[in-house]
Amino acid sequence: MKDVLKMDLDKKEKQLDREFQKKIVERKKKFLEELKTENEVFDQRTLLNIYNLLVAKHIDEISGVVNSGKEAVVFSANKEDELYALKVYRVSTCDFKTMWKYIRGDPRFHLRRSSTRQIITAWVEKEFRNLLRAGDYINTPEPLLKRENILLMDMVHEDGVPAPRLKDIEVDYSEFYEMIKEDMKVLYQDAQLVHGDLSEYNILVHEEEPVYIDFSQGVVKEHPLSKTLLIRDVKNVCNFFKRKGIDTDYKEFYKFVSGEELALIDEEMAKTY
Ligand SMILES: Nc1ncnc2c1ncn2[C@@H]1O[C@H](COP(=O)(O)OP(=O)(O)OP(=O)(O)O)[C@@H](O)[C@H]1O
Ligand SMILES: [Mg+2]
Repeated sequence: MKDVLKMDLDKKEKQLDREFQKKIVERKKKFLEELKTENEVFDQRTLLNIYNLLVAKHIDEISGVVNSGKEAVVFSANKEDELYALKVYRVSTCDFKTMWKYIRGDPRFHLRRSSTRQIITAWVEKEFRNLLRAGDYINTPEPLLKRENILLMDMVHEDGVPAPRLKDIEVDYSEFYEMIKEDMKVLYQDAQLVHGDLSEYNILVHEEEPVYIDFSQGVVKEHPLSKTLLIRDVKNVCNFFKRKGIDTDYKEFYKFVSGEELALIDEEMAKTY
């Protein structure tokens, strides 16, 4: 009688186990289908990488799309009360040639003749490391983890609403001009980094201060392209503030940020880049 009962229990347990497994598989299928319809362009591997973040409980859910650009989609995600930005690079539309050019000259990476997947993994790794490094000196969202073409970081937000970009909101422009100038100096001279794609599109405004995002193109000071990129960043920032009525001088700005005079040869190089 005891044995029969035990067999019964074993059977029940196995059945429960099977049901549980079935539920997981169903959840997985549903999740993949949902993401697929929202965004046809993700490949299966990317979808599985996202799914695994949920399974590993790094996040509880993905609640919406913050921004969908050419190369990446930024989702909002949360775990309990914490809000995160989940940046997913589209493997199909990334410009691997340019990515490779930036990665090749970076002394932190030693990739030789890489596959597209290796390049994009290094690209995300670079963004992750740049965010960490820059975050010691200036306002940036803290990166939490990376998986191939996926980066999870803190969401910069106000009551759950993602912070606006500098381009989309009125601020005290002369104050922001000074703050950004100082931040760029600290980033270059102390963190030894150049953002590489700095503009009003990649600066968020939070609590009346600039927060810098999108560091994937960032390079270290010793990178062969660093001066060229710094000149471009300086010019982008100056042009924006000029349009806002600020009296700017990109040569003086460059000198302040780098501690060096802007050499004609470097400026010419930057023009052709
Ligand atoms: N951590 C974050 N917190 C709040 N909003 C964010 C965050 N990261 C990104 N965003 C929003 O998503 C937009 C796109 O992000 P990001 O600039 O990193 O990607 P991108 O410009 O598409 O990337 P890339 O230029 O490399 O293709 C940003 O302009 C911003 O509005
Ligand atoms: Mg951007």
